[in-house]
Amino acid sequence: SNGKNVCVLMLLCVPLTMMDIPGPCKHAITMDHLLQLKQLISNQLRTGCSITYTFIERKHLSVVCDVKATLPRVLELFNVHFKYVRGSGSAQAVVSIQNLILNIYSQHCIPALNEELEDTVVFERQYNESPVQALQRVEEVLSLYLHLITTTNTPVNWTCEDEYSSNLPPTVTQLTTSTGESISTDWASLWSASVEDFLSYSLPTAS
Ligand SMILES: *[C@@H]1O[C@H](CO)[C@@H](O)[C@H](O)[C@H]1NC(C)=O
Repeated sequence: SNGKNVCVLMLLCVPLTMMDIPGPCKHAITMDHLLQLKQLISNQLRTGCSITYTFIERKHLSVVCDVKATLPRVLELFNVHFKYVRGSGSAQAVVSIQNLILNIYSQHCIPALNEELEDTVVFERQYNESPVQALQRVEEVLSLYLHLITTTNTPVNWTCEDEYSSNLPPTVTQLTTSTGESISTDWASLWSASVEDFLSYSLPTAS
């Protein structure tokens, strides 16, 4: 019975030491959320209107500080531009993503931006794009967050004052001034390497 006790002890201890991100936050976002978002994207009209909205341009931000700055913009985007008939599949997807983000905040998985110290205004950009493109930006940032919490074994430091206030590194500055638009090569490689892998399987088509 001694051996049995040791087994029980190990079962109790191993998960605690291996999961340094607190339990609820390790599962704050799941593939299911991203699949719902994919479904919402696939239900958008491919023609017609564009929407004007403010979003965060990543520039030199780390994944952590990009996610932290962007989540409030996602909430705002959904509140303003994605209203559906109550009870419809699209409405449910929107509510699901909104609740996801509200839970992330209420569980303290990501602290809210510190308005006084963490000013993200230099990363804000107005986009005039199709709803699909807007939702794809949401998909990118939520995928980054999922990737972050599923691959990180140490607690995430969400302090972003320095990153938000620091000037752009020279190489990125050159890129942005020559094209007039920041096309982050970093972003592209990170995206294709880490995210598309686990988003690549196909969704059931909406009926
Ligand atoms: C988090 O990072 C900031 C600097 O970015 C640092 O000042 C702070 O000590 C760090 N906090 C922890 C708990 O490591």
